[in-house]
This record gives sequence, structure tokens and C-alpha cells, in this order.
Amino acid sequence: MNNFNKNILITGGAGFIGSHVVRLFVNKYPEYRIVNLDKLTYAGNLANLKDVENAPNYTFVKADICDFEDMMRIFEEYSIDNVIHLAAESHVDRSIKDPFSFARTNVIGTLNLLEAARRSWVEGRDGVHTVSTHRFYHVSTDEVYGALEFDNTLFTEDTRYDPHSPYSASKASSDHFVRAYHDTYGLPVIISNCSNNYGPFQFPEKLIPLFINNIRNNKPLPVYGKGENVRDWLYVEDHARAIDLIFHEGKDGDTYNIGGFNEWKNIDLIKVMIKTVDRALGREDGESEKLITYVTDRAGHDLRYAIDSTKLKNELGWEPSLQFEEGIAKTVRWYLDHEDWMNNVTSGDYQKYYDAMYGR
Ligand code: NAD
Ligand code: DAU
Repeated sequence: MNNFNKNILITGGAGFIGSHVVRLFVNKYPEYRIVNLDKLTYAGNLANLKDVENAPNYTFVKADICDFEDMMRIFEEYSIDNVIHLAAESHVDRSIKDPFSFARTNVIGTLNLLEAARRSWVEGRDGVHTVSTHRFYHVSTDEVYGALEFDNTLFTEDTRYDPHSPYSASKASSDHFVRAYHDTYGLPVIISNCSNNYGPFQFPEKLIPLFINNIRNNKPLPVYGKGENVRDWLYVEDHARAIDLIFHEGKDGDTYNIGGFNEWKNIDLIKVMIKTVDRALGREDGESEKLITYVTDRAGHDLRYAIDSTKLKNELGWEPSLQFEEGIAKTVRWYLDHEDWMNNVTSGDYQKYYDAMYGR
């Protein structure tokens, strides 16, 4: 027993979105103990959480969600009564090269956590579970819904699952397991499916940090295909706020879509980044457009994602707080000001990955 109201296991807390969720919960809820479980893969970095690492309600545990026995031990040792599950392999390009590790972490890892929760909460020390004391929150993606055409349609919570990449197939599969544990065992679960996030601490294999870094360093900007694919971008702290709200007020067994109603064609977004970085570095407007390099398209590249988050707005009152212009300016500034962070996370095998991806 301890004096905390809740003992929340946040998985993948050393990653991009997870670090923002951990920071929000540690600072906002001193009455909760936050146990951050992360394997510290190439994408996980404790430097993302320097500002909260000594907080009295924060604990870090290095572990692999693929190890079921270890998950059981951790649930027991920390009396885990709630889970916010973000740990995953998250990059589509890597999933095309190595689908097995996506199935392992995203499917089996999620199943291990569900089973650890079921045994600990239903059959274990508590005997019964109730929504008021337990919740398994699964953080998922809009990519499970597949791709939209260039029209006005949006993904709603009722859109049929139609994943196209090994990454989205693994996330779709994990979503199905979460719902199955609700329907079969009565585990109190909740799922959210979010659109593309951007902001500080994102690993520079993803479009926005990769391109900001390359513009700064005068390196080629590898645009897949014709750059016409569309993504719906949300500032990461707005996602973290949505997770907080859904965790506390969402309906048991429900799904919530999270998105910014902020669609951008890749090439248009890239030109905004070029303009913002060039200005910040005192270069001529658009000087770095010469870095744009059209490369072979991503296999199975989804044309367009766009989220309808009306349910979240109507039922829980959530809306994005940051306009895109402000968000992207803040993000560019952050990466330009944090070259040390960039150098830190791109040490290790990053250059090997980059060379293999772009043949340079
Ligand atoms: P990320 O790749 O930045 O971070 C993933 C974290 O999980 C890392 O800290 C990594 O070390 C950890 N991890 C990976 N495998 C692990 C394992 N086997 N055991 C324990 N920890 C492990 O990912 P992200 O972009 O922050 O995404 C977090 C979650 O949000 C994922 O589930 C992703 O599917 C989902 N999501 C991401 C976005 C986005 O735009 N980035 C949008 C919607 C949903
Ligand atoms: O929609 C949510 C998803 O968004 C999350 O579930 C994923 O974890 C996250 O990685 C992200 O997936 P995307 O594939 O959309 O993000 P990425 O940053 O890899 O690519 C964004 C777009 O930019 C996509 O259309 C591919 C394109 N792209 C990407 C890279 C890395 C390029 O043109 N060149 C690049 O070098």
C-alpha cells in the first residue's frame, strides 16, 4: 500500500507522445504515482523527461512489454491499477522492412499487458474490478481506418478498419484484442485513435523533425512520390490533454477519435517548414526549396488521413488549443534550439538507418 490515489502504468513514456503524457500527469496529479515503463529502444530517450525525473510521484522502470512474466511482476510490485498504453513500434517505413518486430511489440506486447491487467484486476488481489478503480487505456492511431480519397470524407469512430501497412495492421490487431478483453472478460478498457502528432521530442525519422533537421543542415529533403499525400496534424500537447480527459471521463468500452481538423498536403507542409526555418536562420525566403528531392514512393502509401473528432468535442468538450501556424513555429524553434537533443538521439545507429533509407 502507498499514499497515492492511483498507481498508473504509462508504457512507452520515454518516447515522443508518451513523454508529453508522463509530464502532464506527473505535474498535474501529484496524488497519482506514475510508473513509466519503457524498453528504451532507439525511439525512447530519458532525456525527454529530465524535468520530471526527480518528482516524488514518478518512477521509471526499464522493461520490455514482450516479457509477460516481467509484466506480471511489475503489476504486483507497483500495485498497478490503471494503464495508459503507448509503447509501440511506431514508424511505418520500419514496419515495411521488419514487420515481425511490429507484430511482437504491438500485438503480443499489448496482449501481455491486457492479460497482466486481467489477472491482477479480475482474478488477482482485487477480486473484482470496477471502472471507478481500474482502466486500461489503449492509445491507437487513425491509420487503422486505412486511407481516404481526395474528398470531404473523414474517419469517424464507425469507419470500418482497413489497415494497409504492417504498422497499421499491428495497431488494428491490438485494438481488436483490447475490445475482445472488454467483451470477453469485462476488462474496463478505452481506446483513442489519433491523427499525426507533431511537436518537441519526436524522433527525427518522422517527416517534421527529419525535415527541420535536414533544412538546418542543408541536406536533401526526401519527398515520397509527388508529395501529394495528405495528413491531419495535431500538436502533441493537445493529444496529451485529450488522453487526460478521456482517461478520466471517457465511457467504459468506448472509442474516441482525436484530430485537429488540420489537413495538409505533404508538399505544402514542407514549404511551410522551409519558409519558417529559412527565416529563423536568416536565409533568403524559400532558399532551401532547392533541397526538395522527390524519391520513390513509400510502398502502400496511404493517400489521405482526416479525423472527425466531433464525438470527443460533443461528449467531453475537447478541442485543439493551438492553431497550426503557432504550433509549427513553436516546433521549428524548439528543434533549432535543441541541437544537443538532436545529436544525442541521432547518435547510435541513426546514420545507418538514414543511409539505408535514403541511400546517402
Ligand atoms: P515513439 O516511437 O516515439 O515511442 C515509442 C516508445 O515505446 C519508445 O519510448 C520506445 O522505447 C517504447 N517501446 C517500444 N517497444 C517497446 C517494448 N517492447 N517495451 C517497452 N517499451 C517499448 O512513438 P510515438 O510516436 O510517441 O507513439 C506512441 C503511441 O501513440 C504509439 O502506440 C503509436 O501507435 C500511437 N500514435 C502515434 C501517433 C504519432 O503521430 N506519432 C499518432 C497516433 C497514435
Ligand atoms: O496518423 C498517425 C500516424 O502518423 C501514427 O500512427 C504513426 O506512428 C506516425 O509515424 C505517423 O505516420 P505517418 O506515416 O503519417 O508519418 P511520417 O512522419 O512517417 O510521414 C508523414 C507523411 O510524410 C507521409 O505521407 C509520408 C511522408 N514522408 C515521410 C518521411 C519520413 C515523406 O515524404 N518523406 C519522408 O522522409
